[in-house]
This record gives sequence, C-alpha cells and structure tokens, in this order.
Amino acid sequence: MILVAGCGYLGARIAALLHDAGTQVTGLTHSPESAHHLAEGVPWRVEPCDISDAAAVTSLAQNLGATYVRCVVHCASSGRGGAGEYRRVYVDGVRNLSAAFQNARIVFTSSTSVYSQTDGSVVTETDAALPEKETGRLLVEAEDAALRTGGVVARLAGIYGPGRWFVLRNLLEGKAAIEGGEGEGRVLNQIHREDAASAIVHLVSKKTGGVFNVVDDMPMTQRACLEKLAARFGMPVPPAVPPNPERKRGWTSKRVTNTKLRATGWQPRFASCFDALDGDGELVSSILAQIAAESPDVLPRRRNVVLIGLMGSGKSTVGRMVAAKLGFDFVDTDQIVTQTARCSIPQIFEREGEAAFRSRESAALRSLLHREHCVVATGGGIVTQPRNNPVLRHLGYIVWLDAGVATLHRRTAGGHDRPLLKADDPKAKLQRLLEERGPLYTRLADLRITTDDLSQDETAYGVAESVRLHFGSQL
Ligand code: S3P
Repeated sequence: MILVAGCGYLGARIAALLHDAGTQVTGLTHSPESAHHLAEGVPWRVEPCDISDAAAVTSLAQNLGATYVRCVVHCASSGRGGAGEYRRVYVDGVRNLSAAFQNARIVFTSSTSVYSQTDGSVVTETDAALPEKETGRLLVEAEDAALRTGGVVARLAGIYGPGRWFVLRNLLEGKAAIEGGEGEGRVLNQIHREDAASAIVHLVSKKTGGVFNVVDDMPMTQRACLEKLAARFGMPVPPAVPPNPERKRGWTSKRVTNTKLRATGWQPRFASCFDALDGDGELVSSILAQIAAESPDVLPRRRNVVLIGLMGSGKSTVGRMVAAKLGFDFVDTDQIVTQTARCSIPQIFEREGEAAFRSRESAALRSLLHREHCVVATGGGIVTQPRNNPVLRHLGYIVWLDAGVATLHRRTAGGHDRPLLKADDPKAKLQRLLEERGPLYTRLADLRITTDDLSQDETAYGVAESVRLHFGSQL
C-alpha cells in the first residue's frame, strides 16, 4: 500500500494516478471533515490524520498495518501558514511518518525555492540549497529528515495546471509585473500538475533515494513568459517593478534543471507552459472561468462577435456579411481546423474520430484569444464541450442564429461536408441536435435571432446593429 499524505491539488492527482495503475492507495487529509468530503468523490481510501501529531500517526499506522505500507508520499501543504506551520507540517510531518512507517520509503515533495541563487544561473541537485528565509530552512530540515531514512526528496518548481496558474491569472487580471533584474525579471521554474504527479509516481517506483528537481524543460524569464502570454491573449506587457524582498520563500532567480530526473527515464509531457497552453484543453478555459466567477469585472469581454447555432443556421454566410458591415475580420473555426489538419472535416471524423475533431475545434477557438474586431463563425457542436464556454464568453458578444428544423434541413440538403448529417434521416438528426443543443445555445447567447422568416441580409443587419448597440463607443 502507498500512503499519500496530503490530498490537495497535487496529492489528489498522485493518488488518482497510483490508483488507476492498480496500486492500493490511502490518502490522508488533515481533518475528519475534509476526509469525509474527499472520500465522496474518489475511488481510493481516505483517512483523516493530522501528520504533525505523533500519536495520531502512530495510531493510524496501527490501524492500517504499518508493515503493509511500502511508500509514503508526503505531499501535505502548509497552506498560507508561516514558520510555525512549516515546522508542524513538514519537519514534524516527515519525522512522524518515517517513525511510524519504518518499512516505507519516504518521498517528500519539497520546493525549488530552497535554492537561493539570484543570478539566473543553472542549478542542479548538487548546487547549494541555502534558503534565506526561515520557511525555506525548515523545508531543508524536513528534506534532511527524509533523506536520512533513505528517502527521496522531490524539489518541485511552481505547479500550474487547470484551475491554478498564477502567472496567467495575474496577467489577465492586470496584476502581473516583471520583478526587477534589469527588466528581464526573475527566471520562472514551472511544472504542470500532470507532470509533477507523473514524476512523483515515477520516483515512487524507483528504488533509489536522493534529491531530484521536478521542473519542465524550459525555465524562462518572467519577461519572456509574460510577453509571449500577453501576445497570445492580446494583453499589454506588464510593467517592470523592483524585486519584492517580502516574498515568503525569498526572491530568487535561477534555472533549475531536470537532467537528473530525466536520466532516470521520466520526461515531462509539457516541455514548457506554452506546450501546455496548446496541449491541455482545460488550462485556459479553467482560468477564464475562475476569473469570470470570482472577479468578472476585471477582465472585460473582447470586442468580437461570436456566432453560434446549428448547421445551416447561416453562421458563415451571415458572418461574412456582418463582418463587412462592421469593418471586422471574419474567421471560421471549421476553417481553422481544416487548415491546421490539412484535410476536410469528414476526413478528420473518419480518420481520428469526433473526439479528436472536438479537441482540434477547442484549440482553434483558443487560438483566437488575442483577436479583436472579428466575427467568429463557430461549428454547430462547439457548445457541446463545456471547456469552450468560458473561451466563447471571453471572446465576445455571442449571437445565436436560430432556425426551425425545416429551414435547417432545406439549407443543408445536398451538402457532403457535414459528417453528422450523413444519417438515414437527416431531418430527425437535426431535430435531435436542436433538442440537445438548444438549452446550451440559450445559456450562452447574449442575443437570439430566429432567422426562418428573414433574408440573410436582414439577419446580418440585425446582428450588426445589436453589436453596435452592445459595444457602443468601445467599438
Ligand atoms: C458540426 C457542425 C459543423 C462542423 C462539424 C460538426 C456539429 O459546422 O463543425 O461538421 O457538430 O454540429 P457547421 O455548424 O458550420 O456546419
């Protein structure tokens, strides 16, 4: 059995990966309430245990049968706490767990913040880890306790992933800054949560102990990262500010390498956060959703028009006319998909399946996040993927071109480029799609126009005038 002590953002993912691989896992959380809450949503065993309490850990070991536990992953976090909390969770936590589970290998998740270098130099596991702040020194004390038992220390870079990426969130909320260092800012060392979890699972399976840095392949300066992100999202590059000496874990700047870990056979799925931006379909949308839910006023929707609606509703034809009326550009997500894939939509459906088409479609949508003054025609099924909703909303003013099944059928009859209508009874298929998607279009749309009795020009006029009203002088 493997214990995962601390089932937060990273620990829960580690436990899930171990469980999915067929390993018996018990996750520990600090209180009975959190254990109860967590146990409702996960298939692995969960136990409450305050690891800073020696007696609690001893009694847990008795209940579980300490000899069956072959590895303990310490993944608990000190939350927002200061030095006192660090000592309790990290130093006492490691000591208590290693004393109670003497047959188990300890894998302690530490942090690259223990390296105090400020000169941007390359840092490996053999370089000095001499943190300036007391919190950092306590992490090193906990590391030493784990290493003395023959355990593993994983020094994790800044973890980001779905629902959590401070660099992007701060940029979008206008709070980001390039901190000192001759305008380049400090070097950011990051790791996607999936890669952090896979690295820990990899280290659990290895027999060796020692220190390993867990970081992606491309540490980069804040300036490089923020400039590139700003370009992707059509945001201004944040200002440079002096270094903040109050940072909890100290102000540092160094390029931490993963060479040692890579040499043991692990490799990250996302070489850099920009690979994750492209490859992790949930990343951007989860951050946009978070901002929309928690502080909707700080990130205004962009000045674009997004057309949604079923196949045959006129998104492409009307969209071009609206663009001409407003002096906007016109883009079509279907077209981006076919250009990127270099084949037609029926071919993508046939060769890769609908799910692959949907992830290509989401990527096409995300690629538009820097655009302004655009009419975006979307594929009829774009609303079926919840991850697209925050992106659609952020992109601009959403218009649903609605029409009855008879109209849609008439307009799509004879076409060969829509795999979903290759059904025996396309009309019935359209009826079903309208029933399924109607509520989704309704929820998302700022404006719904029923087009059955309108000419294309009339529809385009209606859309363009509503857009003018909506954006007013901002246009
Ligand atoms: C689809 C609609 C199509 C295209 C694909 C799937 C759908 O776009 O994305 O064939 O699921 O409704 P149009 O709505 O532009 O025809």
